[in-house]
Amino acid sequence: MSGQTLESIRIDAEVPDNVPKDRVVDLAFAMGGVPNDLVDPYEPVGWMTGDDLPRLLFQPPAGGALAAGAGMGGKGNWIAHRYEDIERVYTDNDHFSNAGTAEFQRVIGETFRSIPLAIDPPEHGKYRLFLTRFISPAQVNRMEARIREVCVSMIEEFAHKGEVDVAWDFGRVFPVRIFMGLMGFPDAMFEQFLDWEWDILHGGTIEKMQAALRGVLGYLRQFMAEKRVNPDGHLVSSIVHGQINGVPLTEEEQTGMVWFLWLGGLDTVAATISQMFRRMALQPEIQTMIREHPELINGAVEEFLRTQPILSSSRRATRDFEWHGMQIRAGDSFQCLNPAGNFDPRRFPNPRTFDPTRKGNRHFTFVGGVHTCLGAPLARKELRILLEEWFKRIPEFRVKPGTDTTVFPGLLSIRNLHLVWEPR
Ligand code: HEM
Repeated sequence: MSGQTLESIRIDAEVPDNVPKDRVVDLAFAMGGVPNDLVDPYEPVGWMTGDDLPRLLFQPPAGGALAAGAGMGGKGNWIAHRYEDIERVYTDNDHFSNAGTAEFQRVIGETFRSIPLAIDPPEHGKYRLFLTRFISPAQVNRMEARIREVCVSMIEEFAHKGEVDVAWDFGRVFPVRIFMGLMGFPDAMFEQFLDWEWDILHGGTIEKMQAALRGVLGYLRQFMAEKRVNPDGHLVSSIVHGQINGVPLTEEEQTGMVWFLWLGGLDTVAATISQMFRRMALQPEIQTMIREHPELINGAVEEFLRTQPILSSSRRATRDFEWHGMQIRAGDSFQCLNPAGNFDPRRFPNPRTFDPTRKGNRHFTFVGGVHTCLGAPLARKELRILLEEWFKRIPEFRVKPGTDTTVFPGLLSIRNLHLVWEPR
């Protein structure tokens, strides 16, 4: 995969007539679709931060369930890869819209919108304000004791054994247990939720995706109906009884919010955790640095996030305009290559160095602009508590000999990762 050039990734494909043929490329390797076994799995995108690359490239449709479900990119995507261009796409709401983003539900004919992700300003603001009350930094601080309790009890279950599958038995479970508690979902739904999510995002066939969508939406609607009758202090209940400016949320709005929280909150932190431990196991000096300087934990979390951009978000052009010499048409889809933007040397000095003392670390892992991840304060809190509690209990760890450390550099990430250490 190394030694790539623009020439080597150029492909011949049907594209709309406003796209020059020499901009058409295959970026599957940069979008999380191709696994590798590098210490820094996002490294193969590194050459794309060079000055000679045209500012806008074009990726033809990937096809398959994901493209159809995402509601974007049916004709392909313009690709923005420079920090400054990605920042524009995420923040220029006059030229770029979120309508249709991550609306997998369309695949089974559902018409409700994913809220707040697929809503543009100014409408977006009222939904964002409504939800922020429940996942604000202050609210997340109130959850801290519970997050720590779950984290400590899970680590203590395996610390003395000297071994854990950190991806499957820990990373996959810890954040989802917190999320289930936040929303009020019963713990018994845990495995079923993860199965549905896997089939929607990574199942690979449209049939699997449709079945999972029907399953989860049927369950969420039934759960919401139950909370209408029996309210509790959790987030799904607050949403079904919610009002904005004194007006109760419609059933469509409630479904759009509960659905998107379910989709956005379930396995994003899990993917981040498994990649974080893989990196520390393969690069033990990061472990030493954190162990000797726990005051660097906040900076380390930010560096793990910057160097592991698990998602590359999409937007749609709202109008015809010219950008970097290209004729953009209303409706054209854009994808922002976060694994290039987060390593842009114009913005991040020594971008491939893991540096917890980095200042002004404004990466795109939670995107930017009005849609900046609403769950970011919760995700950061979980990751910080995890590092604090882990390093108090587990000595230097490494990958268990014989373990496959292949990783998809994206949300698909890594399913199993066996770590070993000398128990204390
Ligand atoms: C490390 C973990 C996480 C990552 C990397 C992540 C990433 C993202 C990204 C990239 C977006 C923007 C997508 C776009 O604009 O196209 C987003 C939005 C969002 N995320 Fe997260 N997320 C994480 C955790 C969470 C959690 C735990 C929750 C819920 C508890 C959550 C809820 C949301 C919501 C509601 C939005 C939509 C915000 C809006 O449109 O205003 N996320 N997230």
